[in-house]
Amino acid sequence: MDATPVAVAGAPPAQPNAAVIEVVDLVKDYRVGQVPVHVLQGITFQIRRGDFVSIMGPSGSGKSTLMNILGCLDKPTSGSYKLDGIDVGGLDRDRLAEIRNRKIGFVFQQFNLLARTSATENVELPLMYTDLPAAERRERAMKSLEAVGLSGREEHQPSQLSGGQQQRVAIARSLVNKPKIILADEPTGALDSRTSIEIMAIFQRLNREEGMTMIVVTHDADVANYSRRVLHFKDGRLERDEAIPQPRDAKKDLEALPALVPEKTVAV
Ligand SMILES: Nc1ncnc2c1ncn2[C@@H]1O[C@H](COP(=O)(O)OP(=O)(O)O)[C@@H](O)[C@H]1O
Ligand SMILES: [Mg+2]
Repeated sequence: MDATPVAVAGAPPAQPNAAVIEVVDLVKDYRVGQVPVHVLQGITFQIRRGDFVSIMGPSGSGKSTLMNILGCLDKPTSGSYKLDGIDVGGLDRDRLAEIRNRKIGFVFQQFNLLARTSATENVELPLMYTDLPAAERRERAMKSLEAVGLSGREEHQPSQLSGGQQQRVAIARSLVNKPKIILADEPTGALDSRTSIEIMAIFQRLNREEGMTMIVVTHDADVANYSRRVLHFKDGRLERDEAIPQPRDAKKDLEALPALVPEKTVAV
């Protein structure tokens, strides 16, 4: 018999599993007065390109501190961090900002949108540091809003949108630079459970269809169950690295929910 292996149709491209995030023995200390606070106490893990990872742990366990380091907003006290193969430890502030803008999109619990500013202008903000012409910035912002289901809401200001819609504007803003990685720190923390599943459905689609690497901090096990892996933190340490062999499908969960009153939007 001829046992020559045959290329499988639709096989993933080469190196789909390369580490996009690689931290080794990451330590972060803060000094409050004379007292050092050991917030991260030697964290080591890798995240592969295209993975969908949750980070869980009690309040104060160092999750946001870790996210700030992964997002190049803060530097570790010691240890190494490679982002997409680049050792970011040795980079100056300008290079760090450049890498951050190019590779990472951020989503926060409190949306962090500018008040009295339209959805489109909020989404365009990260492009202000690029030399894209205004028309192209606008075009990209409109496409990002479309990708999160907010076409028709372009001129709405945050106060004219529901919480879930505001978070979708924030996700559109995180997408506008076409990042490889989305870092979301408690993105559903201010939302009800149905809206939370809607947000997770958007993240799952971006992960599956665009291959974006998703990293989501949550205290909610229901939310974590939409990811494929959970990193459990406790007291600044990685306590457990849990695989979720069969993540829940947010789109299916939404379809199974009883029909709902449409999300409340402040009339304009
Ligand atoms: N800038 C800072 N200065 C001093 N201590 C800080 C600072 N930022 C965070 N911490 C402390 O670090 C610990 C972890 O905080 P954080 O990363 O925000 O935890 P989590 O996001 O898991 O709730 C907390 O004890 C917090 O008080
Ligand atoms: Mg936090």
